[in-house]
Amino acid sequence: MKIIYRLFYRIKLIFVNTIITAIKYDRMNFVSFLQKDAHQKTLEILGDQISGSLFFESKHDLWDFTIKEVEKLDEDDNNKVCMEFGVGGGESIRFFSKKFMKNNINIIGFDTFYGNPDIWPGTDNMIGSSNQNGVIPKNLDKNVKIIKGYIEDTLEDFIKKNNIKKIDFIHVDVNIYSTAKKILEVTKKYMNKDSLILFDELVNYPFWWKNGEYKALTETYQKNEFKYLAFDRAKKTLIKIL
Ligand SMILES: C[S@@+](CC[C@H](N)C(=O)[O-])C[C@H]1O[C@@H](n2cnc3c(N)ncnc32)[C@H](O)[C@@H]1O
Repeated sequence: MKIIYRLFYRIKLIFVNTIITAIKYDRMNFVSFLQKDAHQKTLEILGDQISGSLFFESKHDLWDFTIKEVEKLDEDDNNKVCMEFGVGGGESIRFFSKKFMKNNINIIGFDTFYGNPDIWPGTDNMIGSSNQNGVIPKNLDKNVKIIKGYIEDTLEDFIKKNNIKKIDFIHVDVNIYSTAKKILEVTKKYMNKDSLILFDELVNYPFWWKNGEYKALTETYQKNEFKYLAFDRAKKTLIKIL
């Protein structure tokens, strides 16, 4: 009986010590500190601009809301133009295309499928992160069209060749600033009042306010040209053009 008691005591001690050590290390963890600071900065910088926004617990709830907002745009328009920048393994484009199909909405996906062309400061993404070895995801829905290549080389050409006059929705998921900036600059003149932009990683990661999609957004659009509609619990953000 004594042996069992001692053994139990030992296990309890190891367990408690492990937890205490984990807590101590977490307190010293610089990445956790930066992450907390990033949340604080989101509140400080966006402040009142987001007091009228919706906040969803999951990305799927935000994506579903986005789809409804796209469908609501001019319900008589049967030629809505939707684009995804950064298709990668195809998770998000599949989610959108399945639901868009019911309303005969197509989505065009742009990607090299070779991952980030640059590092993404504030994260652990190096050059080549999200690399699919150039392979386009298989079995995409019929309402998906893929344009393979650098967005810097393909986007303007695609718009001209297809005589696109307006864009209803873009999903920006390219991770890095330079690509996001190019996308926003090229698409801006085609965005109408109420057109939607969904950012995959706008806020809530270390130094987001100096990098990536937020830097591209604030350099391309003035505060009074858009409104924050909704967020998920992390970094995804939907805005509407005013
Ligand atoms: C995070 S992944 C996209 C993930 C995807 N939305 C999903 O749900 O699986 C980012 C993608 O952006 C692409 N990308 C980044 N910069 C690019 C550029 N300048 N031209 C083309 N593709 C680019 C990368 O190749 C990568 O596949």
